[in-house]
Amino acid sequence: MTYDITRDFRSDTVTLPTDAMRTAMARAEVGDDVYGEDPTVNRLQEEAARRLGKEAGLFVPSGSMGNLVAILSHAGRGDEAIAGLDSHSLLWEAGGMATLGGIFPHPLPTDQDGRLDADAVEAAVRADNPHLARSRLLLLENSYGSRGGVPLPASYFAEMGALARRHHLRVHLDGARLFNTAVALECDPASLTEHVDSVTFCLSKGLCAPVGSVLCGSRDFIHEARRQRKLLGGGMRQAGILAAAGLVALDEMVDRLAEDHTHAARLATGLATLNGIILDPKRVRTNIVLFQLSPQVPLDAAGFGRKLADDHGLQVDPRGGRLIRAVTHHGIEARHVDQFITAAAEILSA
Ligand SMILES: Cc1ncc(COP(=O)(O)O)c(C=O)c1O
Repeated sequence: MTYDITRDFRSDTVTLPTDAMRTAMARAEVGDDVYGEDPTVNRLQEEAARRLGKEAGLFVPSGSMGNLVAILSHAGRGDEAIAGLDSHSLLWEAGGMATLGGIFPHPLPTDQDGRLDADAVEAAVRADNPHLARSRLLLLENSYGSRGGVPLPASYFAEMGALARRHHLRVHLDGARLFNTAVALECDPASLTEHVDSVTFCLSKGLCAPVGSVLCGSRDFIHEARRQRKLLGGGMRQAGILAAAGLVALDEMVDRLAEDHTHAARLATGLATLNGIILDPKRVRTNIVLFQLSPQVPLDAAGFGRKLADDHGLQVDPRGGRLIRAVTHHGIEARHVDQFITAAAEILSA
């Protein structure tokens, strides 16, 4: 069967570059970015930093590398990083901070929206004692993926930023879907990053660029991050070909994320009416729909995913147990959402 993006609800990472991106990529003015001489990369980095209220930016091949470059720039061997135990950087990035940085993760529980508890963070900060690792870094995420893409407000980051400053911790924000949050909350993205030292956001998810993320922070921080990116093998040469798509993503694809959110809400509302699905549509505020199969359904998430694929050509992301993730994106319109709901209804009524 040929690939059909309108039936692929696994992730917004499956999005394809737009015609405007392909045209911009073909025409991009390029240079050697390891020498800092690619004008298109430089423009993307400046534009990203400007939008997030930071001094400088660094183009990196992926969100995972952006987070790791940030972590290695802020902390070193024997340092400890406090983070949500279900955060992307702890769960889904191959343990990079420990494997490559000798940085000890300190996982803390999050609430149903993905927030850390301020008192728990405060209690997790280590005393200055030679027996203990050094608390150095606080890792945050927005939107919070494993809680269904909850958009967390600026006030949470102001609270965490103040706490971090009191304890001399640096703060890095994994903002892979930061623009989804800004669109959902109708706020300036810079208001979400004001209280963090660094932030990564992805161009290659809902924003549809084929490759890339941008890490932003102070000029000094980005100077160090450039070294860490080189160490990880992320120094690219004529990367303006890729950055050109990123510039189109920022110019043309941010406001339209609202459509993905509307489609996710439509999907959630439809699924919630089905017997056998546990889902509160009010919790779906960006482009991620998390739902559970109720105990009377004779399938687990993997089995349900297989039936969607085999009988209806639809793809989802079974998260284990009875939990399933479906994500809306540029390739998915209202009628595709409706087809998904009809297919789910069919499976559940069989
Ligand atoms: C919240 C979050 N952070 C980071 C990443 C990593 O991005 P990449 O796949 O580009 O490495 C992802 C990817 O899905 C993500 O969802």
